[in-house]
Amino acid sequence: MSVDLTLILNIISSWLLIITKSEIIQNSIHISLNSSRSFHSCTTYTDIPLIDPITATIKSLAEDLSACRYSSFDLVRWYLTRIDAVNRQGFHPLHAVIETNPDALTIANALDQERHIYGSRSLLHGIPILIKDNIATNDKMETTAGSLALVGSLVPRDAFIVQRLRQAGAIILGKTSLSEWSNFKSDNSTRDGWSARGGLSNSAYVADGDPSGSSSGSAIATSAGLCAAAIGTETAGSIVMPSSLANIVGIKPTVGLTSRSGIIPISHDHDSVGPMGKTVEDVALLLEIIQGVDSRDYATQQIGIIRHQNYTQFLLGIEGLQHLRLGVIRQDIHISNEREDKIQKAIELMRFHGAIVIDPVNVSGIGDKNLLNDLVSLFRYNFRHDISNYLSELKNTRMKSLRDLIEFNIEHADQQFHDVYSPNQNIFISSDTQRNFTANDYANLYNKTRQFDGQYGIDATLIQYKLDALIVADTKHYITYMASSVGYPLIVVPLGFNESNNEPYGLMFAGTAWSESILLRIAHGFEQALPIRNTIRPKYAEQIISIRQFLLRIIEFIKNLELF
Ligand SMILES: *[C@@H]1O[C@H](CO)[C@@H](O)[C@H](O)[C@H]1NC(C)=O
Ligand SMILES: *[C@@H]1O[C@H](CO)[C@@H](O)[C@H](O)[C@H]1NC(C)=O
Ligand SMILES: *[C@@H]1O[C@H](CO)[C@@H](O)[C@H](O)[C@H]1NC(C)=O
Ligand SMILES: *[C@@H]1O[C@H](CO)[C@@H](O)[C@H](O)[C@H]1NC(C)=O
Ligand SMILES: *[C@@H]1O[C@H](CO)[C@@H](O)[C@H](O)[C@H]1NC(C)=O
Ligand SMILES: *[C@@H]1O[C@H](CO)[C@@H](O)[C@H](O)[C@H]1NC(C)=O
Ligand SMILES: *[C@@H]1O[C@H](CO)[C@@H](O)[C@H](O)[C@H]1NC(C)=O
Repeated sequence: MSVDLTLILNIISSWLLIITKSEIIQNSIHISLNSSRSFHSCTTYTDIPLIDPITATIKSLAEDLSACRYSSFDLVRWYLTRIDAVNRQGFHPLHAVIETNPDALTIANALDQERHIYGSRSLLHGIPILIKDNIATNDKMETTAGSLALVGSLVPRDAFIVQRLRQAGAIILGKTSLSEWSNFKSDNSTRDGWSARGGLSNSAYVADGDPSGSSSGSAIATSAGLCAAAIGTETAGSIVMPSSLANIVGIKPTVGLTSRSGIIPISHDHDSVGPMGKTVEDVALLLEIIQGVDSRDYATQQIGIIRHQNYTQFLLGIEGLQHLRLGVIRQDIHISNEREDKIQKAIELMRFHGAIVIDPVNVSGIGDKNLLNDLVSLFRYNFRHDISNYLSELKNTRMKSLRDLIEFNIEHADQQFHDVYSPNQNIFISSDTQRNFTANDYANLYNKTRQFDGQYGIDATLIQYKLDALIVADTKHYITYMASSVGYPLIVVPLGFNESNNEPYGLMFAGTAWSESILLRIAHGFEQALPIRNTIRPKYAEQIISIRQFLLRIIEFIKNLELF
């Protein structure tokens, strides 16, 4: 029943689009080609856009746009309609998108015109992307980390990665929900994905399912086809954990590959920003656009960074698995037998395709109970300073310090807290009051966490066994926290679904600093060897609309007919 409605709706909205399209085409003037761009002039669009939102990738949408199947304007309208129907309405609202960009259609129209005249800027030309609500956009949208405290504040400029996306022609379609303040406010929330501004976000696969976080909305929106792909941020697991539960690919780049300027921080030594997409190819495409040296982020200027202008060159398909040396982490993995079985099959599959898999390998730091506490002490110290720095550049806000944020929460307690999902602001308070933890204490503890987990941890194991990467069965694992303490990269790819409730889970690979190229190659090889993402569709992503909405659309349709 719901599928039929979706189809009808798609067809009707396609008619609407065909009608609006004629205006754009009439306006386009053909002038000389710009030879530096791939040029495609669309004088007419061929197909009605019956795109499958769940499987559509950046690559497939870009091909359709080039082939004049539809315009970016159509695409944005179609995504906005979907967001409207799936995100806030229906039986199981996802609350993955906090707000959409009121300029998205205008931007899409301009990019369509530009494509007609000059050709496309990149594969991302005219592709709608959602970004986490802690990433600044200097436009009509808010940037709030999900908190009411920053509503109305004005950012000085687009975040660096947003500039890069826009330069490449991507359309910032909207902002995604998150665990408020990237999960750095409350210490007793029983579930991720809640924020005062965004409400409670839900998995698209499991009824009222915890989407994990803190980049919850970016993961849900990508899995449910509310955008082509999305951007998330990670300090300790915030990209890989929700990606795993959303049946998508997520990469946390090495700290410094992607700029954090213009992003609401937790800790400058540990924060990273990275792409979340439906395929390894999509995250590679996004990574090559957003990475880059930024004068406002010291970490991007370090010596020794291995940067590539082209990350898709490392995607070699199944063949890419040949001769790779991978080590399986078995320490402190707590998964069901069913999942254990999937891991075993995955290992056999990679071996079958030529990888050398060493099982198990041990990492010395795993099991150290101090690791997470030490990390949180470092985060707390940095947060107080880093958040003040971020706030100092904002206009039109009273919020200047962590103290101001704490007081705002007290003044607006009824909205800023939730009994279950955000019961307190203990992390804010402990961060603000950790005053006897000096810069010197920080340096000592920072050195401890880096050496213990870098030189004697991940790297030591990679060297000892001559490995390209580690295989980790669970994203909620010491390896994720070690990668946080040393700023190392992680990637997660779909592995399977819980047999009783279809909740997805992924397989994670961890590597040394700047090993994104090898992680992408491994992930791509594995994804091509086991293409399971599209075998089970998210249950709560179908476009169910109310009769009232349905009638309104028909009225709109008839009105347009008369105009025509
Ligand atoms: C062609 O495109 C490039 C890159 O976008 C731009 O710098 C250049 O000015 C364009 N040339 C013309 C003749 O429009
Ligand atoms: C809240 O979290 C802290 C650790 O951060 C824990 O010690 C405490 O028991 C928790 N309180 C409740 C009520 O769960
Ligand atoms: C990146 O490399 C691949 C493979 O060599 C190539 O097909 C692709 O066009 C390159 N991408 C760009 C943006 O140059
Ligand atoms: C790995 O550690 C486990 C205990 O956690 C131990 O039983 C095993 O022998 C170790 N394996 C290697 C190869 O060191
Ligand atoms: C800071 O002070 C508190 C209370 O006085 C104490 O419990 C804690 O151990 C001190 N921390 C450091 C790093 O000195
Ligand atoms: C931390 O390590 C760096 C480099 O290894 C060193 O220069 C610095 O003195 C160390 N700091 C402390 C407080 O141990
Ligand atoms: C599947 O979900 C059920 C119910 O939530 C849970 O008990 C079980 O452990 C899950 N299995 C896997 C493989 O995660």
